[in-house]
Amino acid sequence: MIRRRDLLLAMPAGLAASALPRDLALAQAAPSPAAPQPELKLPPGFILGASTSSYQIEGAVNEDGRGASIWDTFSHTPGRIKDGSNGDVACDHYHRFAEDVELMAQAGFGSYRFSVAWPRVQPDGAGAPNVPGLDFYDRLTDRLLARGVKPFACLYHWDLPQALQDKGGWTNRDVVGRFTDYAQLVVARLGDRVPRWAMLNEPSVHAIFGHAFGNHAPGMTGWKNYLAAQHHMNLAQGSAIRALRAAHPKLGLGTVFSLQPVLPATGKPEDAAAAVRFDAAWNGNNLDPLFHGRYPEISAADFAPFIREGDLDAIKVPVDFLGVNYYGRAHVVDDPNGVIAGAGWGPHPPGTRTTAMAWPIEPQGLVEVLARLRDDYGNPQTFVTENGAAYDDPAPKGGAVDDPARTAFIRDHLLACQRAITEGCALKGYYVWSLLDNFEWAEGYSRRFGIIHVDFATLQRTPKTSFAYLAAVASGAPTGTILTGP
Ligand code: FCB
Repeated sequence: MIRRRDLLLAMPAGLAASALPRDLALAQAAPSPAAPQPELKLPPGFILGASTSSYQIEGAVNEDGRGASIWDTFSHTPGRIKDGSNGDVACDHYHRFAEDVELMAQAGFGSYRFSVAWPRVQPDGAGAPNVPGLDFYDRLTDRLLARGVKPFACLYHWDLPQALQDKGGWTNRDVVGRFTDYAQLVVARLGDRVPRWAMLNEPSVHAIFGHAFGNHAPGMTGWKNYLAAQHHMNLAQGSAIRALRAAHPKLGLGTVFSLQPVLPATGKPEDAAAAVRFDAAWNGNNLDPLFHGRYPEISAADFAPFIREGDLDAIKVPVDFLGVNYYGRAHVVDDPNGVIAGAGWGPHPPGTRTTAMAWPIEPQGLVEVLARLRDDYGNPQTFVTENGAAYDDPAPKGGAVDDPARTAFIRDHLLACQRAITEGCALKGYYVWSLLDNFEWAEGYSRRFGIIHVDFATLQRTPKTSFAYLAAVASGAPTGTILTGP
């Protein structure tokens, strides 16, 4: 997909359709007269929910013994975050979680995907658990269960304890054991009530942006760091799943990948070759080791120096589910200075509408990703664990925020889910990104992805039209009058 934050920096001059002037990008996203849509009829039992992550919403960074994470360090480094902001307060979900759970219950969501902040549980990344930190997730879990929303926890959404980063972080193989210990501590406390656990969120994005490109924490650069981080995340995922399965055989264990179809942006053969490299880095270097016990042919030599005997067997582990984060396709070009294996982002196909991130809106790409899992990876049980869009929403008016473009975006991706299911993909649920407007990494608070508006001065929550739409879908009520978007 066209991603992300500072992505324009990575693009060769003159090639960036996504570098369209912002007002033009927005004009493309503006609602056009409604076209007739097929009826949305999700199968019985299909889970509808919302996703968030710890650093992006919790705030309370110095409370109850929490240690520093790489995102605290990074966001407090001048020049790293577009609006100079940080996650110190964010949505203050740490204190307002009950209100947020109440809103999910009102939406009729069957489930909520959140992440656990490792530095709350192990402030220094090792050793005995910090009990008050675990207590927070205990309170959250109990509140969710009391309101009929099934908790779905992700163990790592990019907030590594800074103490581990000081020893090399994901580039140091030692992190594999640390992560496995941490995972066991958390699940020992919450596994009796949280039935589904994802190990990592988007290892490829974390490896690429945090360790090769450097526009995300921990801000490391260079392909070698990417390779080390990616391999160690693959290992950590396998190691934690094995340990957890042995101790808790009834839990649903899996992981979450960012997946996108990768296409050459032009007809040039060098762009076609670039697309193969980009695809390996974004998709294949996660999928192939997990499901097939090998790296894609094009990556194998690169990873070789990091692979020890037994590693590939350790990474290949059966998963109970795969979480798929999907935002759009990637249209790529050959670029010797490009951040991803000598490839970079090129122009979207002419006429492609985009979101405020300048990411292309391509619901059919989700069907393609799920079909690839069906055809090449044994059709694992999947959940769309993230999908959504940033738009420059209007300010709340009369207790409401109208976001027709986001609403249509969600509708179109739910329709894509429906097509994928019809085509035999084992898709079981959809979690919108995100429940709340939040701290969008290097973009700070300048990008709003929420179905609930957050006023970052008062922290007041205001549900948007997209929230009402999802609530109607969840309840089986007609959605026709809610949808006014393109
Ligand atoms: C995903 C991240 C999530 C959020 C969305 C917009 O890649 O997992 O935290 O930033 O993108």
